Amino acid sequence: MTKFDFIKDYFSNAEPKVGIVLGSGLNNLLDSIDIEKTLSYSDIPGFPQSTVPGHEGSFVLGKSGNVQILAAKGRFHFYEGYDLETVLSIMKSFYAVGIKEVIITNAAGLMDRKHKPGDILLIKNCIDMTNQASVLKAGTAVIGESERNLAFKAAEVSNVKLGEGIYVWTTGPSYETPSEIEYFTSLGGDLVGMSTMPEIMWAREHKMNVYPFSCATNWASGIANQPLTHEEVNETAQHVRKDLTRYILTLCKLIGD
Ligand code: HPA
Repeated sequence: MTKFDFIKDYFSNAEPKVGIVLGSGLNNLLDSIDIEKTLSYSDIPGFPQSTVPGHEGSFVLGKSGNVQILAAKGRFHFYEGYDLETVLSIMKSFYAVGIKEVIITNAAGLMDRKHKPGDILLIKNCIDMTNQASVLKAGTAVIGESERNLAFKAAEVSNVKLGEGIYVWTTGPSYETPSEIEYFTSLGGDLVGMSTMPEIMWAREHKMNVYPFSCATNWASGIANQPLTHEEVNETAQHVRKDLTRYILTLCKLIGD
């Protein structure tokens, strides 16, 4: 039995409509749903394990209104030393349980000066600075027209300001230099981060509808005159978390309608 068969069996009585990948600091979304069942990554034979103590990952099945959701708490990045196969484990799990709608969230550095840290942006396209995504089939639009329309409708309904931008994917683990950020900006990038692009590409290749969002947590390297204080960053994150949770739950409802 593969790890994905195991997950499929475990949730065999469920029919989650939406899969959600929770980015850094966004686990509080789970406080707002009725949790039905959880599955720790460590209880799945052969599933990758989080290397960070106290941050062990899990799948959480729950309901928001009439919509059944499967959320993944904890994800895998290249900068942790994982290969592409491992990085894609969560998408493959969603696929195994029959999920067709995927919401992906992340924290990202902001390059687009039309926005500000604290803003939420829909990822409309990606630039691969890792030379890793080339193993995935290219040529697909990152986000479909109807998903984009629904994303902006959810913003209106939940009264959350939603921007959109192009996400530049780097492997990390280090943040960028100011010159790299200037270069990414000249290529048309608006956001920079170390996740999400491979998940988007794989999901699109497998005919899933994808709703990818960045929470702009900071100005990218070299843009701000002076670094934000820790308190300011925390305050911003706290504010965005509340908005993003309300937004995501509204989007789930619209997807379910
Ligand atoms: N760069 C890369 N990844 C990030 C950043 C950043 O500035 N902020 C959050 N994730």
